[in-house]
Amino acid sequence: MSNKITELFKIQYPIIQAGMIWNSGWKLASASSNSGVLGLIGAGSMYPEVLREHIQKCKKATDRPFGVNVPMLYPNIEEIMDIIVQEGVKIVFTSAGNPKTWTSWLKARGITVVHVVSSVKFALKAQEAGVDAVVAEGFEAGGHNGREESTTLTLIPMVREALDIPLIAAGGIATGQGMLAVMVLGADGVQVGSRFVASEESSAHQAFKEVVVDAKEGATHLTLKELAPVRLIKNKFYDDIVELYKMSPTSDDLKVLLGRARAKRGMFEGDLEEGELEIGQIAGLIHDIKPVAKIVEDLVSEYETAKQQVTSLF
Ligand SMILES: Cc1cc2nc3c(=O)[nH]c(=O)nc-3n(C[C@H](O)[C@H](O)[C@H](O)COP(=O)(O)O)c2cc1C
Repeated sequence: MSNKITELFKIQYPIIQAGMIWNSGWKLASASSNSGVLGLIGAGSMYPEVLREHIQKCKKATDRPFGVNVPMLYPNIEEIMDIIVQEGVKIVFTSAGNPKTWTSWLKARGITVVHVVSSVKFALKAQEAGVDAVVAEGFEAGGHNGREESTTLTLIPMVREALDIPLIAAGGIATGQGMLAVMVLGADGVQVGSRFVASEESSAHQAFKEVVVDAKEGATHLTLKELAPVRLIKNKFYDDIVELYKMSPTSDDLKVLLGRARAKRGMFEGDLEEGELEIGQIAGLIHDIKPVAKIVEDLVSEYETAKQQVTSLF
């Protein structure tokens, strides 16, 4: 496969393994890059020196391109960006912040910059800021999300209509059929998150991976909109949030309930009751934990088969 996205990142398939806190360390990123897609290290859950270690290990484990995802809502961003430059990383995906803040600084240092958005308005801001491509992420995606609730099916064609630069679709894509669907809607590539959580190489706790595999339709909900909207599995922690909402809480009340390190506790340490378990709606279609190479192989072969099936319909 060859298109704008494979050319931009010098990869085999127009597929990005999403940056994901507590899930995408060097093992997942290098396995993804070695399978022909773009692997991303998720810096959001890493202290700066931990990130440096992951980048160094990733460089040893693959000679193919990989990148780093930097959610700008976390602290130490200056230090993180310096490490990215010092370690020679050539691709950065920024999210959860203003694309103007870092794009020109990164581009002046020869780095390809992609920004993640959940609306047409922010896609245009990212394009104005000079990014090389945009990830447009629909409401069904796992992790933090926008407040607009635009689904992938509606967001992708609207962003495509407004934007000239390459467009990567995210949210609800775990199969080659899903990938073909968003490319028909105007995407040049896909960013896949939840499917890679349930991979052998993801650093998620085994118990969390099993919850993802067992999740059925309706298992997730987008909540905590007053803080930073996040889609998570309905567990005891989620039930506590629902109870608190009945008392019309302030943002501070929600912050107190959320506390610190909930996401680490849930996804990395496997506390299925009290932890925050971030996953997308498409978990209902993920039935097994597979090696990354097999996930990529399946995505590509399903995509090719779906393309044939569609043409044979007419
Ligand atoms: C467990 C988890 C953690 C995530 N962490 C991040 C993150 O640190 N930074 C970010 O930009 N997006 C994050 N996301 C969103 C993904 O990068 C991706 O856009 C999303 O998972 C795509 O939707 P899907 O889950 O339906 O494939 C996370 C998603 C999940 C499931």
